Amino acid sequence: MNATEKITLGLPGVDQQHWILADCLASIELSVTEKGRTVAVNAALDRLVDLTRLHCADEERLMRVHEYPERDEHADEHRQLLTYMEKLRNRSISNEDSLSMMVFIQHWLREHIRTGDRRYAAYLANAGIKTTA
Ligand SMILES: [Fe+2]
Ligand SMILES: [Fe+2]
Repeated sequence: MNATEKITLGLPGVDQQHWILADCLASIELSVTEKGRTVAVNAALDRLVDLTRLHCADEERLMRVHEYPERDEHADEHRQLLTYMEKLRNRSISNEDSLSMMVFIQHWLREHIRTGDRRYAAYLANAGIKTTA
């Protein structure tokens, strides 16, 4: 199973957003490693925060519409992630710090998809809800 398959939930729109987020994180990590905190990295971090905010809002809307019971706890996790990402974007930090924060975010996101996101995807599937979101 490759990295893409590991984060695939079977919800086409959500899966696509996860792949874009994973790509975005990987390219930022590479840029930080190669060039340090450049203007391009800072712009990419802005994009990452925007994409993540949109993705979290989409998931939370999906959970609300289908009355997923754990939606409040899930939204709390999203808020924690966004707070951490914004800290990374806004802080003046060394390259080493940037890199370790990026690795932490990548790990966090992968675990969140494999656990929390997989739980609500299973809930939707069990309820027979088909969605393109
Ligand atoms: Fe997600
Ligand atoms: Fe989520």
